[in-house]
Amino acid sequence: MNVVDHLPNGRRELNSRACVYCTPTNGEHSRLCVAHMIPQIILRIVGNKKKRVTDFLEHRYKDILIIPTQKYDDLIFIRYDNWENLVPSIRDDIVINRAIISISPCVYSTKDINELSLIKCNPAHVYKLQVFPRKLTENIIDNILPSEVNLDPKNFTHLICITFAYERYHYAIVKKEILVSDKDTSVDPDDVISRAYHKIAETFAIESSFKIKEGMKALDVGASPGGWSSYLAMNKISTLSIDPGDLQVTHPLICHIKKRIEDCFHEIELFGPIDILVCDMNIHPLNVAKTMLQILPYLSEEAILIVTAKEVEHYRSKKLVGIMSRMLGVGYDDIKSYFLISNGKERTVTARKKSNASFDEIQKVIEEQEKTEQDNMTSVV
Ligand SMILES: C[S@@+](CC[C@H](N)C(=O)[O-])C[C@H]1O[C@@H](n2cnc3c(N)ncnc32)[C@H](O)[C@@H]1O
Repeated sequence: MNVVDHLPNGRRELNSRACVYCTPTNGEHSRLCVAHMIPQIILRIVGNKKKRVTDFLEHRYKDILIIPTQKYDDLIFIRYDNWENLVPSIRDDIVINRAIISISPCVYSTKDINELSLIKCNPAHVYKLQVFPRKLTENIIDNILPSEVNLDPKNFTHLICITFAYERYHYAIVKKEILVSDKDTSVDPDDVISRAYHKIAETFAIESSFKIKEGMKALDVGASPGGWSSYLAMNKISTLSIDPGDLQVTHPLICHIKKRIEDCFHEIELFGPIDILVCDMNIHPLNVAKTMLQILPYLSEEAILIVTAKEVEHYRSKKLVGIMSRMLGVGYDDIKSYFLISNGKERTVTARKKSNASFDEIQKVIEEQEKTEQDNMTSVV
């Protein structure tokens, strides 16, 4: 048990049965009650990512309960039976931890700030205070916490986490190890390889039917500087990486062809049937869809597809994904689109090779798209 037993006298630890402090009287009130459930973990999220982080958590942890908190754009309230294991798991999850500002376990909840003065701190421990909203910190240190609490934000052994939300103070004291990882999961936001890497890592995390197996072959179209290729190679996938730009990674499983995709079909054929086709080219999504249809004959049965639909002028992402999916639909099944935590304005589209694709139909769609591209070029000239 990593949660320190510091309970003020006479208080009971909140467990899953004692979580509701507004007792439901009939069905009508149950929504209200959910809204007032006491969380076991509160996440503070980077602006505008709350829905995407919530969706990801619900996808990844089947028994998680996210308590609705419309009032707060940047807080996610979580209940989870095994919450003490969930905290380190979220902390070390490279997909979401870039979107998380802080993780605050909550063992107790009170309306009365003075209850915090009853916190029993161990004189042998050194504490760091993690308070939200931060403006409460000074008052809590100066007027509320017992004066003997030994605080040191750098060299601490325990954290006192306090979050004030819905007129209540949710709080817990936890050992440092529960919130501070000894693994380096930090990411340099300027590191483009890392940023791209997270997009593909998140897609595989969310698409649980996409199983990676050693010995598979992947084609990465628009691979430079190499985030996606490095993810695939690190997962033991032989990867043919196509891009006229340089790769910043070298790996024995990565073979880079420094050309445009249009000039590489011979090399793709030699490489052999492709199990994983990925494409992050920064070109119009309909040209991407056309290219993915051209590559279809080189794919193995049930090959998987991951492409980014980049937003282009005059088209919003939703419309783009719609027309891109229709076009992909002649050769691919099970087309899904995601707005990932790691997506900017773009969307990520996944699919599987269709078993009964009609190559005549595919050829027709490719020719139509080529004609449109020609017409567009003529009108620009
Ligand atoms: C956003 S970057 C890809 C980032 C990459 N997924 C990663 O993980 O590092 C887009 C790349 O698409 C490439 N690209 C654009 N048009 C291309 C084409 N016709 N054939 C091959 N690559 C192309 C560009 O050269 C650029 O390097």
